[in-house]
Amino acid sequence: MQILFAFFNSSKYNEYVSEIVFVDTYGHLLGGKPMKYGYFDDKNREYVITVPGTPLPWINYLGRNDMYGLISNTAGGYTFYKDAKLRRLTRFRYNNVPRDFGGRYYYIKDGNTIWNPSYMPCQTELDSYTCRHGLGYSIFESSKNEISSSLLCFIPLNDNVEIHKLVLKNNSSKLKTINIYGTTEWCLYNAVDDSSNFQRNYNIGEVEIDKNTIYHITEYRERRNHFSFFNVNRDIDGFDSDLDTFVGKMNSWTNPEAVLKGTSFSSKASGWSPIAAFRNDVKLQPGEEITLIYLLGYSENDKEDKYLADGSINKKKAVALIEKYSTLESVNQALADLAQQWKKDLSTYQISSPNKKFDRMINIWNQYQCMTTYNLSRSASYFESGMGRGMGFRDSCQDILGFVHIIPEKARERIIDIASIQFEDGSTYHQYQPLNKKGNADVGSGFNDDPLWLVACTSAYIKETGDLSILNEQVPFNNILGSEVPLFEHLTRSVNYISENRGPHGLPLIGRADWNDCLNLNCFSLSPGESFQTASNYDSHKAESVFIAGMFVLYGKEYCELAKLMNKEKEVREISRAINEIEKSVIKNGWDGKWYLRAYDAFENKVGSKENEEGKIFIEPQGMCAMAGIGESFEMPKQAIESLEKYLLCDYGVQLLTPCYSKYHIELGEITTYPPGYKENGSVFCHTNPWIVIAETLVGNNEKAFEIYKKYTPSFIENISNIHRSEPYVYCQTIAGKEAQNYGEGKNSWLTGTASWSFVAASQSILGIQPTYDGLIINPHLLKEFDKVKVVRTFRGVVYTINILNKYSGIYKMIVDGVESKDKFIKYDNKKTTVDVEIRL
Ligand code: BGC
Ligand code: NOJ
Repeated sequence: MQILFAFFNSSKYNEYVSEIVFVDTYGHLLGGKPMKYGYFDDKNREYVITVPGTPLPWINYLGRNDMYGLISNTAGGYTFYKDAKLRRLTRFRYNNVPRDFGGRYYYIKDGNTIWNPSYMPCQTELDSYTCRHGLGYSIFESSKNEISSSLLCFIPLNDNVEIHKLVLKNNSSKLKTINIYGTTEWCLYNAVDDSSNFQRNYNIGEVEIDKNTIYHITEYRERRNHFSFFNVNRDIDGFDSDLDTFVGKMNSWTNPEAVLKGTSFSSKASGWSPIAAFRNDVKLQPGEEITLIYLLGYSENDKEDKYLADGSINKKKAVALIEKYSTLESVNQALADLAQQWKKDLSTYQISSPNKKFDRMINIWNQYQCMTTYNLSRSASYFESGMGRGMGFRDSCQDILGFVHIIPEKARERIIDIASIQFEDGSTYHQYQPLNKKGNADVGSGFNDDPLWLVACTSAYIKETGDLSILNEQVPFNNILGSEVPLFEHLTRSVNYISENRGPHGLPLIGRADWNDCLNLNCFSLSPGESFQTASNYDSHKAESVFIAGMFVLYGKEYCELAKLMNKEKEVREISRAINEIEKSVIKNGWDGKWYLRAYDAFENKVGSKENEEGKIFIEPQGMCAMAGIGESFEMPKQAIESLEKYLLCDYGVQLLTPCYSKYHIELGEITTYPPGYKENGSVFCHTNPWIVIAETLVGNNEKAFEIYKKYTPSFIENISNIHRSEPYVYCQTIAGKEAQNYGEGKNSWLTGTASWSFVAASQSILGIQPTYDGLIINPHLLKEFDKVKVVRTFRGVVYTINILNKYSGIYKMIVDGVESKDKFIKYDNKKTTVDVEIRL
């Protein structure tokens, strides 16, 4: 086995960084020290990063309503309003070296030393550095040559403004005369055009400059009724608004000429690249401190009200916003309000267990990630460019599963939005753009699992809230006015679509793909670069998915429950019959002897079978069919889970498949384009792992459930951040599998269905608190060492304090408000405000 030698600079920033690490070709540590690059500060609900040079940019999100920012541990990233593609406010440079380039860049020129509070872009070595990523804010604290700086970035709850509060202090015994530069680089709103259509872009850029505010008004003269602005809350000593002038010939953001010279050129952008760069010349006495507040804002005017009589833009709303946040008190208040809101949101589900790594995921980071995936779906991260995907249908539906308990009213709204892109036949657009909420025709439809996820999230919403009225909500098809029918009818069309589209083995047709976007059984692609998700060249009407069959059984039953509540007897009868048939088809044609098959391809060949040379066993049908309990009387779920443990379990969770595909299979599609061990071709595709955690609890393997949970859950692998490389506080989409060169490396962090499903697995299966249509089932599946666990769960406004005493006796006992219960169920009682529950196990 080859030994790689990796050298990491021993750094003064971080006591945790060791010098030399030996890894084998799979990235396994050999002798060297595992490493981390920071630590959890649970009390403040922060992750504190102690080196600027994390293995990858470790990011955070600002904003929770309309305006959002991505922010890395060196203040990189960008800001947008609602839609990262159509209304991008600031520019980010993709594929850059270093990878993370473009952001909130502040410069301090202190004599001949130029440095940045967040280390980038000058990369001047700092005397100290930390980045604290918290809930909706990030703080960079650093120092250089006896000046300390603190840069706080956040977006307040209800205003479209990103606030950067910069505090500088002279800790020396001498007077310090410094120049401070605060900068931003505008994106010309449409992020795709901005990075491609230069023949136009380089002509359209416009700004209006008004003392300490620069307004970015590109395209405002024509069809845009919005602009953005950058402001600093004190008189300035100089400015620039043209990038090339500010940085100078052959220079860049790392060494702008203006900053090198300690001056500004008063440039007014016209075309090219508009920026805002303010200069403040400051004298700081020993011990003296200065605070500057910078605002990056977004403002919209009515069409008729865009200009003033003198031809300048109407800045009334923008100026009001600037005034609102120009004082320290108002900024501090906005930060406090944000913290308060987060506290309230997270209080719905709080635990205290013997394991602090578990607690910090449940109490803080997993829920935080669920909120972020709910807000942004898969649109904007350091792996999703914000220019491609809008909101995914199946993604958003699944995001609701882990978010619905936090703000159910928002989930309700989202369900209606999602259902509105469904077609009359029950199939649906796969994505929509958040700005206009219309189905995205470029990506199209035909992902046959999609409709069933609508049933999944609607039932989760109703279980959480008891709000059956959503089923009567009038919802259009394809957003066409006049086509509205009750939401329940949308669900009916969803299940009917699956039931009516079955293939030769009685299993649901897969269409373009099911959950696994890369299993493209009806697309035979030979052209380089062609998208497997949109190319349509052969619809066999034969390729079938065992995974969708599992989903149909699981969520079809949910549908029937809802139909019963709605007194829809005919529907219950029909769908129950279809469930029965599909279950039988799986038992007969979807079982491979020791595990569930994955699919049948367009030629009716098996996929995911012992008969295949590669891709013999896949995770998805094992998880889904086991959760649906298919073939329980033949112990199929149990057997499938055993097989999966034998073949797919690795150091970082359960791989998607094995053996990985080594060659391109035209009949299977994109899945075989990835090198072995990456993405859909056999990584630990984390999204699927919680299904196995749930399935393990269903077959009674509590120990195994937690063992798997720990393998892919970031707080548990923080110590090997040098191998995992991704943020230790949020889930990744994938961790490279054991057949990959970089075994254990996490990728595509933040925006992944892993967040929701992990929360569901932990909160509903491991901790076992399951909302039902009329109450809570409490059925924990705990490890022996979890001897005492306390959960405080707010459910429909009632606070349930649940104390679990786990003696591992095998006997279950529940006492509710002093009265022993006969079963594991607590009926919801709206007359109560609190309920005390004691569980003995
Ligand atoms: C990725 C999938 C993703 C799909 C749709 C593929 O390249 O591997 O994970 O779902 O693109 O964007
Ligand atoms: C990521 C996509 O966002 C999701 O919808 C899909 O299920 C997985 N990739 C698996 O392909």
